[in-house]
Amino acid sequence: MDYLTLNTGAKIPAVGFGVFQIPDPTECKRVVLDAIKVGYRSFDTAASYRNETALGAAVREAIDTGLVKREELFIASKLWVQDSSYEGAKFAIQSSLDKLGLDYLDLYLEHQAMGDYFGAWRAMEEAYEDGKLRAIGVANFFPHVLTNFCETVKVIPAVNQVELHPFFTQENALAVMKDYGVVPEAWAPLAEGKHGIFSHPLLTEIGAKYGKTAAQVALRWNVQRGVAIIPKSTHVERMKQNLAVLDFSLTDDEMAQIGALDLGHSEIINHFDPNIVKFCLGRKIHD
Ligand SMILES: NC(=O)c1ccc[n+]([C@@H]2O[C@H](COP(=O)([O-])OP(=O)(O)OC[C@H]3O[C@@H](n4cnc5c(N)ncnc54)[C@H](OP(=O)(O)O)[C@@H]3O)[C@@H](O)[C@H]2O)c1
Repeated sequence: MDYLTLNTGAKIPAVGFGVFQIPDPTECKRVVLDAIKVGYRSFDTAASYRNETALGAAVREAIDTGLVKREELFIASKLWVQDSSYEGAKFAIQSSLDKLGLDYLDLYLEHQAMGDYFGAWRAMEEAYEDGKLRAIGVANFFPHVLTNFCETVKVIPAVNQVELHPFFTQENALAVMKDYGVVPEAWAPLAEGKHGIFSHPLLTEIGAKYGKTAAQVALRWNVQRGVAIIPKSTHVERMKQNLAVLDFSLTDDEMAQIGALDLGHSEIINHFDPNIVKFCLGRKIHD
């Protein structure tokens, strides 16, 4: 495994595993155990995915049966907007720990720059200082938001998890993250299957040269530009494929060709749409 070093000194695996859109607890537990057997050690969930309990059950079973040790795992979750305040975050952090059945999280992220996310950050800073959260970070912080945040808070985010794939490359966002020493992490590194990514002519052609699939080329491109990735798959063969992206390198020219696929905007979610903000602010995940 390759790793990126966080501003805490801890290391995050370059290739991790996301569990978004696996709502069924039995399926989620099966998927995570399969992923651990395949070799994944880093897992990304969120309070809003409603599968922290299932991820925790899988992790504890893997530890209890000797598959892995806790310290070999890197477990991340996220604060939902409903709890984006100082008191809300204190509740949410404990709720995530309880649901996962863990004493600490390796990483805890603000899911969106919405609500009182500065108040929430103060509670996260306290939990970080207490050791309950080994690293704290953010998600979906666009460059101007991240800049304002980093210039204002005490603890600089360790990670910014944003949408990053060949069709939304966000080079400007990566430059700002680099300036502040924030590790970029890609959500939807496979563009959630959009843009015909799995049979894209350029990615397929480049992959043929290395005996790799279009998916593997897309994932390798992000890893090679210093981005941690967390692809999701419920299929064991795809899990294996997505992990096998560290044994080949793309040329500078191939990196540039892939980067040129950029559309300059997301076709998954438009964070600049006021209705999306209102939707997130109104979405309740608990009483
Ligand atoms: N912070 C945020 O706001 C945010 C937003 C979205 C996602 N995330 C995180 O990022 C993780 C990854 O993003 P994502 O799950 O949205 O999308 P993704 O990883 O880009 O794509 C997942 C899709 O690709 C398919 N797939 C995976 N590997 C494949 C392969 N090798 N060949 C063909 N199909 C393949 C999966 O199908 P199967 O499962 O059927 O194999 C699934 O439909 C999430 O799980 C979540 O942890 C964070």
